Amino acid sequence: MASLGHDVVGVDVDPGKVARLAAGTAPFYEPGLPELLAEVGDTGRLTFSTDMADAAGARVHFLCVGTPQQHGEFRADLSYVESAFEALVPHLAPGDVVAGKSTVPVGTAEDLARRLVGTGVTLVWNPEFLREGFAVQDTLHPDRLVYGLPSEEGVPTPEGDAARALLDEVYATPLAEGTPLVVTDYATAQLVKVAANSFLATKISFINAMAELCEATGADVTRLADAIGYDARIGRRFLNAGLGFGGGCLPKDIRAFMARAGELGVDQALSFLREVDAINMRRRVRVVDLVREVSAGSIVGRRIAVLGAAFKPDSDDVRDSPALSVAAQMQLQGAQVTVTDPQAVENARAKWPDIKFASSAQEAVQQADVVVLATEWAEYRALDPAELGDLVARRAIVDGRNVLDPAAWRAAGWTYRALGRP
Ligand code: UGA
Repeated sequence: MASLGHDVVGVDVDPGKVARLAAGTAPFYEPGLPELLAEVGDTGRLTFSTDMADAAGARVHFLCVGTPQQHGEFRADLSYVESAFEALVPHLAPGDVVAGKSTVPVGTAEDLARRLVGTGVTLVWNPEFLREGFAVQDTLHPDRLVYGLPSEEGVPTPEGDAARALLDEVYATPLAEGTPLVVTDYATAQLVKVAANSFLATKISFINAMAELCEATGADVTRLADAIGYDARIGRRFLNAGLGFGGGCLPKDIRAFMARAGELGVDQALSFLREVDAINMRRRVRVVDLVREVSAGSIVGRRIAVLGAAFKPDSDDVRDSPALSVAAQMQLQGAQVTVTDPQAVENARAKWPDIKFASSAQEAVQQADVVVLATEWAEYRALDPAELGDLVARRAIVDGRNVLDPAAWRAAGWTYRALGRP
C-alpha cells in the first residue's frame, strides 16, 4: 500500500515483529519483500506500531489477522479477528471503512457489520488471494479484486457505494492496470475466498488420486498431468502430484468450510472435501511406505535425510508442512532423521525440537541410507546425483515432489522412487 503511494501504519500485537519491521526487516522470509521495505522505507510513508490508537485518523482499516484451525476441531478460530476488531472499534470515526481481508466462515462479515451500525463506519469484505513466495507480485498485480459491500436485494446501499469509491482510490494503480474487479455482497465475497482455495485443494487431490491409480498400473502421473493439462479447460497449473498440500491456508480452509456448511445445514454439498483431505493425508503415509520399501522393509535405525521443512519452496512457513509431517512420522517409527531447509530450519526447530537439523543438503545426507526430497526448492532440484552419491551410505532417493529426472539419478546408480511415477 505504501509503495502504491498511500500513508500506512501497520499495527500488530507482537512487539518483536513491530520492532523488526520498524528497523526495515521482514520478520519472515518472502522473496522481494526486503527490497520493497527498503524502497518504501526511504519515503517515510510506512510506519509500524503496537498501539491501536495509531490507527486513528486512517480512512481505511484493513483487518488482516489469521484464522487458524480451532484446536481439535474443523472450525476456524476467530479469536484474532474478534480481538483485533474490538481493539479497533474505539478508534474509528464516521466515514471510515473497515476492509476485512482475513479468510472467515461466511456470516462473519454480517456479524461485524451489525456491530458497526450507528457508528457511520462501513464494513467491506475484500478477500486476499496472495500466495506465499509470490506475495509481493500477487499483491501489487492481483488476478482480481473482490469487494463485498453492504447491499439490499443485491444492490449496494449508499454507504456501500461510498466505501467502493474509497477502495477504488486505494486500488487505483492495479485497477488502472486492468485488474478485474468483482463487486458483490458480503456472503459472496466471503465464499469466493474459500471456494477458490477449495478448488485449488481439489485440483491437487485429483491429481494425487490419479497418482494412486498410476502406482497401481505402472503409469506416469507427470505425463498424464501434461497431457490433460493441455486442455485449456483443465490447465496444467496446480496439477503437480506429490506429497500434497500443506501450509496455513488450504488444509484449514477446507476443514473450516466443511464445518460452516454443517452449521448451515448443507454439509452434503461439501462432503467431497472430506475425500480431498483424505487423499492429501494418504500421500504422506505413502512416502513413508516408499522409504520403507527401499530400506528392505524396515526403517528402524535407518539414517534418513529429509530435504525440505517448509510447506512449499520460497517460504520459511512450516505450518502443516507435509515435509515435517513425514519427517516426524519416520522418527516416531524409529528412524534417525535429519532435516534441512534453506530458510525454514529455525521455525521447524521451534516446533519440532526433537528432530535433528542440518544446515545444508550436503551435511544432511552424510552417511544417509535414504534421501527424501520433500520440498522442491530450486537448489534441491539442481542437486547433482553423482556428487550427492559420494556423501551417502546407500544411493536411494524418494522424490516426494516428482521434480528430479529419474533417468539421470538411475544412471548415477541411485534407486529412484517417486509418487505416481515408475
Ligand atoms: C494458497 C492459495 O494458492 C492462495 O491463492 C491463497 O491466497 C492462500 O492460500 C491463502 O489462503 O492465503 P499458499 O498456501 O501460499 O496459497 O500456497 P500454494 O501455492 O497454494 O500451495 C499450497 C500447497 O499446495 C503447498 O504445500 C504446495 O506444495 C502444494 N501444491 C501446490 C501441490 O502439492 N501441488 C501443486 O500442483 C500445487
